[in-house]
Amino acid sequence: MNTVENIKDLRAQVKAWRMQGLTIAFVPTMGNLHDGHLALVKAAHRYADKVIVSIFVNPMQFGLSEDIDNYPRTLAQDKASLISVNTDLLFTPTADTIYPKGYGDNSYVEVPNISDLHCGASRPGHFRGVATVVCKLFNLVQPDVACFGSKDYQQLQVIQTMVEDLSMPVDIIPVEIIREKSGLAMSSRNGYLTPEELAIAPALYKTLQWLSEELRKSHQPRDYAALVMQASEQIEKAGLKTDYINLCHAQTLAPAMPNDKEIVILAAAYLGKARLIDNLPVSL
Ligand code: PAJ
Repeated sequence: MNTVENIKDLRAQVKAWRMQGLTIAFVPTMGNLHDGHLALVKAAHRYADKVIVSIFVNPMQFGLSEDIDNYPRTLAQDKASLISVNTDLLFTPTADTIYPKGYGDNSYVEVPNISDLHCGASRPGHFRGVATVVCKLFNLVQPDVACFGSKDYQQLQVIQTMVEDLSMPVDIIPVEIIREKSGLAMSSRNGYLTPEELAIAPALYKTLQWLSEELRKSHQPRDYAALVMQASEQIEKAGLKTDYINLCHAQTLAPAMPNDKEIVILAAAYLGKARLIDNLPVSL
């Protein structure tokens, strides 16, 4: 696996592959890779001849109160993991390469409405940072397809919307959530949890499963507000602090309406130093 840090080397490799008529799949990440990330790389191989992974801890998507300096950085380990899943090229740009002018005065991509809901409400500006960096990375890598995890369900919808709205020539492939045996969705942020907190954390997914069952068995009209309240109480009883639990339309992520058939439960909760997110689609 070759690693490139600068744009010139990246473009040279992409051009060489294009000249050979090869297709390219892309997996953007912020590193500290786990099996969830590696599942994206494995999926990417099914869609193209070459797989490019990026590792870039994007300052533009972190809020002022969020500690980017302490975001886990494990490059040597990440490289070994990427080699084990046959990654063809790793792109590790610096912040100066991606934002030569700094990102305060940079042009940006804003995906309206959907970016302001749920995690966007708790983390203002977060999805502008995500959409902008993913757009820039797409322009640099120019992939045929790009793989994103369903774990970040809202992020996936933001990227899908951006690609459709701006006619970007890339197919977005959603990849299912990879979980620990306990049910906890794998996340780089799980590393912030103490052993005691790790024992508590699976309550988030368990509660989503409970809520999904309740939704399926209750008759119309369903009392969404009461069910969400009970779910939140369960999470808090287990020792987490609920940020939000929302029932939404599966694509627009607007509040679920009584007649919606495909909905998704989106949830975020605080535990120790971590903010955990999870989701569960439900067909009614
Ligand atoms: P990061 O959190 O490193 O995640 C990179 C990709 O891995 C995302 O598409 C995410 O949804 C996916 N992923 C993470 N945990 C997963 C799991 N348990 N199962 C399946 N997929 C999982 O998301 C980002 O980075 C950034 O916002 C990024 C898109 C790279 C833009 O900076």
